[in-house]
This record gives sequence, structure tokens and C-alpha cells, in this order.
Amino acid sequence: MDRRIPDTATVEAAVALALRAPSARNTQPWCWRIGYSTLHLFADQDRPLPEPGPGERDMLLGCGAALHHVRVAFAALGWGTDVRRLPDPDDPAHLAVVTPHPAGRPTEEMTALAAAIPRRRTDRRPPAAWPVPRDHLDALARAAAREDARLHVVTGAVRGPVPDRQPGTVLTRPPALEAGGEVLVLATANDDRMALLRAGEATSAVLLSATALGLASCPLTGPWGSCEAHPPVLLRVGWAPPGSEPLPPTPRRHLGHVLEPLQAPPKYHHQLDTT
Ligand SMILES: Cc1cc2nc3c(=O)[nH]c(=O)nc-3n(C[C@H](O)[C@H](O)[C@H](O)COP(=O)(O)O)c2cc1C
Repeated sequence: MDRRIPDTATVEAAVALALRAPSARNTQPWCWRIGYSTLHLFADQDRPLPEPGPGERDMLLGCGAALHHVRVAFAALGWGTDVRRLPDPDDPAHLAVVTPHPAGRPTEEMTALAAAIPRRRTDRRPPAAWPVPRDHLDALARAAAREDARLHVVTGAVRGPVPDRQPGTVLTRPPALEAGGEVLVLATANDDRMALLRAGEATSAVLLSATALGLASCPLTGPWGSCEAHPPVLLRVGWAPPGSEPLPPTPRRHLGHVLEPLQAPPKYHHQLDTT
């Protein structure tokens, strides 16, 4: 056995955790391919690659979140990861090559993030009015910064009138922003494919950190964010209302449908695991 590369069970455990990543409308726009010493992330090969625009943006954000989840999962299992993003200019569906290497005992922080993966939910319920402590918000900003993104608290701005970029009109606020909690904008320096993939990783880092801190969270999309940089994702974090029931997990495709050997032909079956 080659101890420099993880065995199949370890790779499957890491990808199984990565399946829990959030994605817009739960589209799960990813698939994974195992090479000898590498793991490859592709845009889901069962559907056409989305054209540049909102569809591609959501795909890259979701795949970025899955990439961060797999990095966290490997770290918690004792494997560091080298990641090459968008490795093949001739294949835009090929989003990352992950090369695990032995890293020894995981940090407490990585263990906590990995433990947060199965507990994280998109919680759309109005949060309690209790304030989110400043040091919690600072910790979320640090999590974003480690993934090259900036996190801004914009709660005050979005609870007031939200100006449209077009002069003379005002956008309607989505109901989720009327409730308690804090609204955060995750911003990147630009909005090319690489930046969107990294923004997905940063989104995952913020959501898992929020879960680890006991906060409920909900990513939001839409044109109502306003920020001088590129604002790919709006997030709401807050305390779940006292006495609220835990949310059930949303369904995911089976591991066998999204993880295959690198050379295998794509499968054409989508079955949701509703258990
Ligand atoms: C990029 C992105 C955008 C999203 N936008 C919204 C949104 O606008 N409104 C919403 O309620 N959920 C949104 N979500 C959450 C997804 O619907 C959710 O991740 C998916 O249904 C899976 O559920 P889970 O997060 O509880 O596992 C978004 C998620 C991502 C990654």
C-alpha cells in the first residue's frame, strides 16, 4: 500500500462529505473523477456546460463550495491538499485537480469545520432578534479572507431602501432581509471564472464557520446587493429562533452517481437519495 496517497475509502469519505455542499436550487452541479493520486472536480457532465451568465455563475459557486468541502474533509482525515484550479484551458468543465498528501493530525479548527458539514442547513426561517456578536462576525470575515474574499456586513444598508444601479428605481427587498440576523456580502476583486470558483470556496468557508459557531445561515442570490466590489453572494447569518425544530437534510445524489474513475464514461441517471 502506498502511504503517500489516500486509499479509496478515504477518498470516498471525503467526496461523500463534499456532496453536502450548498448549491443554488440544490442543483449539485458537480461530478468527481478519481485518478491514481489525484481527485478531479468537473462541472456535472450529465448536463450541458452553462453559458456565461447566471447559470455559469451558480455552477461555479456551487462547485467552489464543493471544492472547499472536500479540502476540509481531507484535512479532517489527516490529508493536506494541493489544488490546481481551472487546470485545462481546453476543457472549461474541468474545474480543479486536488492532490492529497499526508498531513498528520488535523487542527481543531479543521475538525470543527468538518463536523459542521453534516449539520449545516440553509435555514430560511426568520432569525431571532438577538445580535450576532462582533467577534463571531470577525471570525467569519477571517474565514472569507483565507479564501481571498472580503466579507462586509451590510445589514443596515439592506434594511433601509436598496437603491438600484439604474437611477430612479428602488428594488423591492426580499422578505428574508426584513428579519433579524446580519446580512453579509461576500465580495471578490473581480468576477471571472477563477474568482467565482474561489468565491464558492469562500462561501463554504463562511457557512461552515457560521455553523461551527452555532449560527443559522442562508445564502441568497439576487440583484439587491450593492457593493463597490463584485458581490457574488449575499449571506444571512443569525440565531435560530428559540424552540425551533432542527431542519431535515435536503436530498443529494448518490455517491456512485457523482464519483467515478477518471476515464469512465459519464452516467446518465439522476436519482435523488431521499433518505
Ligand atoms: C450560490 C448559491 C445561491 C443560493 N441562493 C439561494 C437563494 O437565493 N435563496 C435561498 O433560499 N437559498 C439559496 N441557496 C441555498 C440552496 O437553495 C441550498 O444550498 C440547497 O437547496 C441545498 O440545501 P442545503 O444548503 O440546506 O444543504 C443558494 C445556495 C448557493 C450555493
